[in-house]
Amino acid sequence: MADAFIEWQIDPRDHPGRGTAEERIRFLLGYAILAPSGHNTQPWLFRVRPDGVDLIADRTRCLPVVDPFDRALVISCGAALGHLRTAMRFFGSDACIELLPDANDADLLARVTFGDAITPSSRDVARFHAITRRRTTRKRYPDEPLPEGLGAELLAAAAYEGCELSILVDAQRKRAVAALVADGDRAQFADPAFRRELASWVHSRRAATRDGMSGAAFGMPDVLSAVGGLVIRTFDMGDRQGATDEAIATGSPALLALATAHDDPPAWLHAGMALSSILLSVTAAGWTSAYLNQPIETDALRPRLRATAGLAGHPQLLFRIGRAQPIDPAVRRVVSEVLVEDRRHAIP
Ligand SMILES: Cc1cc2nc3c(=O)[nH]c(=O)nc-3n(C[C@H](O)[C@H](O)[C@H](O)COP(=O)(O)O)c2cc1C
Repeated sequence: MADAFIEWQIDPRDHPGRGTAEERIRFLLGYAILAPSGHNTQPWLFRVRPDGVDLIADRTRCLPVVDPFDRALVISCGAALGHLRTAMRFFGSDACIELLPDANDADLLARVTFGDAITPSSRDVARFHAITRRRTTRKRYPDEPLPEGLGAELLAAAAYEGCELSILVDAQRKRAVAALVADGDRAQFADPAFRRELASWVHSRRAATRDGMSGAAFGMPDVLSAVGGLVIRTFDMGDRQGATDEAIATGSPALLALATAHDDPPAWLHAGMALSSILLSVTAAGWTSAYLNQPIETDALRPRLRATAGLAGHPQLLFRIGRAQPIDPAVRRVVSEVLVEDRRHAIP
């Protein structure tokens, strides 16, 4: 793997087993930063403490057009929290997680400390090894049955976080949801502000930034990656994108819709942790995933998705799962870049 992806080459043998809690947390954060995030904004900061770590929202990395209430931003931070918990469990500690511990600081999303010593379950181990192999893969997947037991495992992962998961495998229901995805594409691409915001996070693979998405992630050859942002910014590709996404969604083995009873930061953090567990289980089963959040990001379509996917709660994420050839990972910022050492967010 090229040096550009060095963060993905983290080696469990480098874990400082007998080190201090601070040393161990710094190492474990190397797994947290491999979590997925909207537009690969990586909107998280961490403050290492003597007994654990604080997770802080980095709202300078927000997406005001597609995510005006920082919903996806908080879900992304929840996914990083989920990855951290999986890594802590693999190395033999339960994770004690307090969500939103300071009522006066909405940016302090979670405080994590080391809990009891545990023996990781085979599921913990499988999810841990999946962290460095998980990718968002935006290709077509062949339609085929889910691997044995995977559906039940994903439902359990969602339920553990108090979330609701609808797994759609029936062709008619997939088609109905896919039609909403296409409607969402058309609505989003018709909005120049949406296109401008998306374009600003699409970079060439050769760019020096350690965030955002390469055009290659969307199937563009890298020579086009450099101008990919310009194309997205300039042209309304809603019809084309809608038709492509509709066909890809309908043809995927399963569409997954994750929902929560409430639509607030604690619910978004739980949704993110559920997402982490679900994606790691999918990866451990040899499958991959890609998002179809358009109908959730479009106000008029969100209630329609809720009804079409048969959800009782608020839809938070829509994605498809299936099998695809391995692809390169997306870039990440190094751990030292996401550490805050000052006391801005300190609780006495
Ligand atoms: C909350 C959330 C929302 C996302 N929404 C989309 C989306 O609408 N479309 C998409 O193609 N990818 C979406 N993604 C995937 C990110 O673009 C992806 O995680 C990021 O580019 C990093 O790539 P990786 O997942 O392969 O590490 C989303 C991810 C998260 C966590």
